[in-house]
Amino acid sequence: MRVLLTGAAGFIGARVQQKLVDAGHDVVAIDVMLPAAHGVGAVVPENVRLVDVRDADALDSVLRGIDVVCHQAAVVGAGVNAQDAPAYASHNDLGTAVLLAAMDRAGCRRLVLASSMVVYGEGRYRGAVEVGVRRPEDLANGMFEHRDPDSNEVLSWEPVPENAPMRPRSLYAAAKVAQENYAAAWAAVTGSGVTALRYHNVYGPDMPRDTPYSGVAAIFRSALEAGEPPQVFEDGRQARDFVHVSDIAAANLAAVEFAHTGFVPLNIASGRPITIGAVASALAAARGGPEPVITGRYRPGDVRHIVASPDQAHRILGFTARVDPLDGLAEFAYAPLRAVAGAGAPVA
Ligand code: UD1
Repeated sequence: MRVLLTGAAGFIGARVQQKLVDAGHDVVAIDVMLPAAHGVGAVVPENVRLVDVRDADALDSVLRGIDVVCHQAAVVGAGVNAQDAPAYASHNDLGTAVLLAAMDRAGCRRLVLASSMVVYGEGRYRGAVEVGVRRPEDLANGMFEHRDPDSNEVLSWEPVPENAPMRPRSLYAAAKVAQENYAAAWAAVTGSGVTALRYHNVYGPDMPRDTPYSGVAAIFRSALEAGEPPQVFEDGRQARDFVHVSDIAAANLAAVEFAHTGFVPLNIASGRPITIGAVASALAAARGGPEPVITGRYRPGDVRHIVASPDQAHRILGFTARVDPLDGLAEFAYAPLRAVAGAGAPVA
């Protein structure tokens, strides 16, 4: 198939490009090379064209003859402060809207969208008890778990299914929800097919080095490389699902090859949940120290637990992650990281 891949120079996009090419697809790869993601003055890779997804004319030219668009381009991270809002809205929300309109002009009817587990906000808790934002006084007292509002008992987490409500808690999450909503509406009005891949915590070689917009695996890995202990927030017992970038690429290939109409959201996860403390310990052990420090510090906007059910992706795409997080993290402890020299906040 002929595939338009956006965000092709990124940490995830580059792996997706390789996977699609290896499977025999004809890939038109584009990227806008945002300094916040690639560093200042980064060179466009040879097999990638410099195109902004907000540029309708440029899209009209690259979309000729395209069967499927695989849309990875986005401003990532959680957002540091309110000043980041225009960059998320512009690159992610508007970029997706311009892309969908161009796909319609080109008669392209299939989209694979890079989404995220952040669309859910908090994960799911025992008995689907509704939880809100944790109270500042609880966090300050070291009470990090959610409690049942009636019985005050600590709530245990359950895997989140795709039909859980979307409750975005960060600027980035708000933009991912917007992308999904635009794509779902586009699928309905044009009779097209969208597969939204809700990535869980992605890690692997070539992940950008720690910046205020990096995921925790890169932050821990960078600290260890500098001979410093990983600083674990809360009590380290918060649960996530760490999925290797090679599995993310495999899920994208399966989604590109999955023809359907309508909107299908899928969790893309390893299916082997792990606590943040265990992630820090696995990385530290692989590098021979220093041991992580459980700081009790916290970020007010963080969710406590977010763990996926990977069943639907297996049922619909036949996708199962291959890399066990403990093996993948041990390898990641020494994997090269991407330098992002001078990367500042994203610009709209
Ligand atoms: C992360 C990404 C999000 C992405 C999602 C799924 C960031 C900032 N977040 O969300 O964009 O969509 O995965 O791929 O890129 N922590 C520490 N020490 C630190 C930093 C963080 O213990 O130095 C803890 C946090 O308190 C949190 C956990 O690690 O409990 C995960 O944090 P992080 O990776 O930043 O964000 P996620 O919410 O999991």
